[in-house]
Amino acid sequence: MRDSGGDQRREDVLAHQIETRDEAFTPYRLPFPIDAMPEIVLENIAGDDERMWVPQTEHVSMRPLCLSVSGGYWVNLLRVRRSGILTRHRHPGPVHAFVLKGRWRYLEHSWVAEEGSYAFEAPGETHTLIVPEDVAEMITLFHVTGALIYCDPDGRQTGYDDVFTKIDMCRRHFESIGLGGDYVKQFIR
Ligand SMILES: [Fe+2]
Repeated sequence: MRDSGGDQRREDVLAHQIETRDEAFTPYRLPFPIDAMPEIVLENIAGDDERMWVPQTEHVSMRPLCLSVSGGYWVNLLRVRRSGILTRHRHPGPVHAFVLKGRWRYLEHSWVAEEGSYAFEAPGETHTLIVPEDVAEMITLFHVTGALIYCDPDGRQTGYDDVFTKIDMCRRHFESIGLGGDYVKQFIR
């Protein structure tokens, strides 16, 4: 005798699986919050478009990715060539680093940030970044909140950078290469 109840249950299970799968692949239908800011999507960020690299010193450049004026942080690629050095500075906020290429270390720590490494640097950290002589180029993604407070070896402040000085730096660079100062706006949120 045919078990019609069993057939019905199998059909119900199948219908439920199809419905669940269809729902899983259905995009969110509602509008995003009216105050939400648009995403930033940048292709080939470590590529060879030299115009995107904003010179800081002779051997140090930064490429802006996200310059957050509302969050007080910035995300950028830092590129250091020919055993460059990044001036000693204190961080009042946290830093996240992901090494994309090359290797570097801080004068104040024994560890070395190798290609593929991630580092969290806690607020209160003061350090001096150097790239060893055998590394021709290093590129690291840094997410920096707050500021870099430049100082002498005894902590006396000599200057600072924050998201606003970074934006000014980028604006001047894009202006000087003919892209126009407003080119920086695509990175600002
Ligand atoms: Fe730093």
